[in-house]
Amino acid sequence: MEPLILGIESSCDETAAAVIRGRTLLSDEIVSSAQVQAQYGGVVPEIASRAHTDAVDEVVARALRAAGVEKEALSAVAVTYGAGLLGALLVGLSFAKGFAYGLGIPLIGVNHIRGHLAAAYLEDETLAPPFITLLASGGHTAILYTKSATEFEVLGGTRDDAAGEAFDKVARVLGLPYPGGPHVEALAKTGKNVIPMPKMLKGAGGYDFSYSGLKTHIINYVHTMAQKGETYSRADLAASFQSAALDILAEKAVEAALERGVTTVTAGGGVVANGYLRDALMRMCAAHGIKLVLPARKHCTDNAAMIAAEGLLQFEAKRFSPLSINAEPSIPLRRG
Ligand code: KG4
Ligand code: ZN
Repeated sequence: MEPLILGIESSCDETAAAVIRGRTLLSDEIVSSAQVQAQYGGVVPEIASRAHTDAVDEVVARALRAAGVEKEALSAVAVTYGAGLLGALLVGLSFAKGFAYGLGIPLIGVNHIRGHLAAAYLEDETLAPPFITLLASGGHTAILYTKSATEFEVLGGTRDDAAGEAFDKVARVLGLPYPGGPHVEALAKTGKNVIPMPKMLKGAGGYDFSYSGLKTHIINYVHTMAQKGETYSRADLAASFQSAALDILAEKAVEAALERGVTTVTAGGGVVANGYLRDALMRMCAAHGIKLVLPARKHCTDNAAMIAAEGLLQFEAKRFSPLSINAEPSIPLRRG
C-alpha cells in the first residue's frame, strides 16, 4: 500500500491541508487571508497567525473528509516548519505535532521552498531525476540541477531581489494591490512589450540573475514621466517589465538542461503561476526537444499538496522529525 500523507501549510497567509496517496492527490484545501491582508498592502503577521488559528482545524478536517480517509489510516503528517512568519508557522507546526503524536505516526518537518520544488512530482507520476528545476518564488530565484529525490546542486541564483519580489515592488510603483504578481500579469495582458528595459546579466552571469537594475529602471521611468508631466501606458510598462523579468528565466533553464545533458525541466514557486512564463518555458523547451513538467497553477502559489509531496520524498528516505522541531523564520535552500 502506498503511503498516505497529510500535508499542512501555514507559513504566510494561506492555511492549507492536503492528502496524497503515493503521488496521487486525494484532496487539496486552502483558506486564504490575502483579501484581508490586501487592505494593508502586505501580510500583517499577527493577522496571519490569528487567521491560521481560526482555520487550521477546519481545513485539516475538510482535507480528510474530501479525501475520504480516516485519520487513523494516515502514514505521516508533513508540515512546513520554515521559512516563513514565525507565529504563522507555529500554528501549523503545533497542530501537526499534536496530530502526529496523537495518532502515533511520524512527523515530517518540510522546508517550504523544497515543497515548491516538489510540486512537479504531483503533476507527472513518471517524473524522475535528474532534471533541471527553475525556482521562482517570492523569496528565491534559482536554477537547480536536481540529482535525486533529496539532493540538488544550485547552478545559479539571484544576486539581489527574487523574481516575485520584483513583481511585488513593481506592482506597488504601478499602484496595483498586494499580492503584486497576478495583478502585474493581468495588466501586462492588455499592453505590449515596447518600452526598452535593461538587459539582465545576459551571457555574463552564468546562471545568476539580478532584478535590482530592472526594478530601479521602472521606478525611474515612472518618476521621470511624472516629473515631465508626460503620460505613458501602464499596461505597456507592465508587459515590458514582465518580458524582461521572465524571458531570461526560461532561457537559462533551457540552457542549463542543454549544458547538463538532461532532457527534463521542471519549475516551482509562485512566479511559475504566471502565464507568460509558462508559455515561454513551453515554447523554448519544445524548440529543444526538452520535456517540461509544470505544476498546476494552484500548486505554484502556496498550497499544502506540495508540502505533502515533499513529505513523501522524506518519508521514502525515512527522514522524520523529532517532536522538538521548532519553527524557523529562515532556512537555507539546501536544508531538508
Ligand atoms: O512561491 P511563493 O509562495 O513565495 C515564496 O514561497 O517565497 O510566491 C509568492 C510570489 C509573490 O511575490 C507573488 O507576487 C508571485 O509569487 N506571484 C506571481 C504570480 N502569482 C504569484 N508573479 C508573477 N505572476 C503571477 N501570476
Ligand atoms: Zn511559497
